[in-house]
Amino acid sequence: MGRHLQSIAPHGGQLINRLASKAQVSEFLSKAEFLPRVQLSERALSDLELIAIGGFSPLTGFMSQADYESVVTDMRLQNGLPWSIPITLPVSEAIADQLNIDTLVRLDDPNGVFIGVLELSEKYAYDKLKEALHIYRTNEDRHPGVKVVYNQGNVYLAGDIWLLERRSHPQFPTYQIDPKESRALFLEKGWRTIVGFQTRNPIHRAHEYIQKCALEIVDGLFLHPLVGATKSDDVPADVRMRCYEIMLEHYYPLDRVTLAINPAAMRYAGPREAIFHALVRKNYGCTHFIVGRDHAGVGDYYGTYDAQYIFDEFTPSELGIAPMMFEHAFFCKRTKGMATTKTSPSLPEERIHLSGTKVREMLRRGECPPPEFSRPEVAAELAKIMHKMAIAESATEFQI
Ligand code: ADX
Repeated sequence: MGRHLQSIAPHGGQLINRLASKAQVSEFLSKAEFLPRVQLSERALSDLELIAIGGFSPLTGFMSQADYESVVTDMRLQNGLPWSIPITLPVSEAIADQLNIDTLVRLDDPNGVFIGVLELSEKYAYDKLKEALHIYRTNEDRHPGVKVVYNQGNVYLAGDIWLLERRSHPQFPTYQIDPKESRALFLEKGWRTIVGFQTRNPIHRAHEYIQKCALEIVDGLFLHPLVGATKSDDVPADVRMRCYEIMLEHYYPLDRVTLAINPAAMRYAGPREAIFHALVRKNYGCTHFIVGRDHAGVGDYYGTYDAQYIFDEFTPSELGIAPMMFEHAFFCKRTKGMATTKTSPSLPEERIHLSGTKVREMLRRGECPPPEFSRPEVAAELAKIMHKMAIAESATEFQI
């Protein structure tokens, strides 16, 4: 090709790898029986994995108190590097009391399987209300992110971690592409600029529109649906992944698009999470990141464009990944296509906006979302699966 391509630098300059070596694995296994144990939640397991594979570079473990406090109040690690979401390991006081600083702690997954090790360097109490107000901008426990904070243990454990083994994802092994691999893949494809797309919802036409608008500008599109823990009424990851497969089959140029899973858990922290989502995609090798309307929002806790305004609090060079911002997209009846108020002269009554909530209700009734909202192949698949799920749910309710 004759072009000299180089990946974008990871956050902090170096891609972290905390996969234990063979020698470490045998050492940890030989000690396993005697080590104190902490069982990880689904979220903590996602965090452990993301630290280990470099998705959370420059983090090498769960945050120290100094980093945590600095992230909560200033959106920066103690060394000044931007970071907007605490990555912490909460436990109860009773568990914390049994653990000694400067010792190894065995980390088990939610099924009790030995999965990693924590080099415990600190345990500290924290202020849940302060964390809620700074990170989520609310103290209401109806907020799904705040609820997690209020319900978790009162002590955070800190220290570097090691992951024993990189296991294949049980549901989506072929879409498990770790940062090291996505970086290599982008180079192989000859992409100089790559835009990352975060999502936790089934793909709809506004998503497709902003993805393709972005792809007009850059070389490649990295579709990166989040498959870690989400709130219970979000559409399950396998359904969402199936919709992406259908879209790729019918509507996308395959040589310009890579679909991969993001193992992270959803926080619903709106603006703070948009920064975090961008930094994680930078670690995967993206140079650009899409931020649309109410990114990572829930209910009406955040203003429509708050997740875009927050990028003004950082200089472009310290973030090192460029946000591509989009206004609220809708189907425009006048121009008969997707648009935003930036590109369409339509009157409000000529615009079809459908909310995720409205669509979820339609799907539960087994109705197809209209073609202005979803491509028909996706709508049919969604309606089929969601109707089945609704029947299963009502059957369960009936049994109880
Ligand atoms: S999110 O919680 O992952 O942000 P979702 O999957 O709905 O939820 O959104 C993925 C991305 O698409 C986000 O950047 C979001 O802002 C953007 N987005 C979703 N719907 C629209 C829309 N109608 N117009 C513009 N951007 C949108």
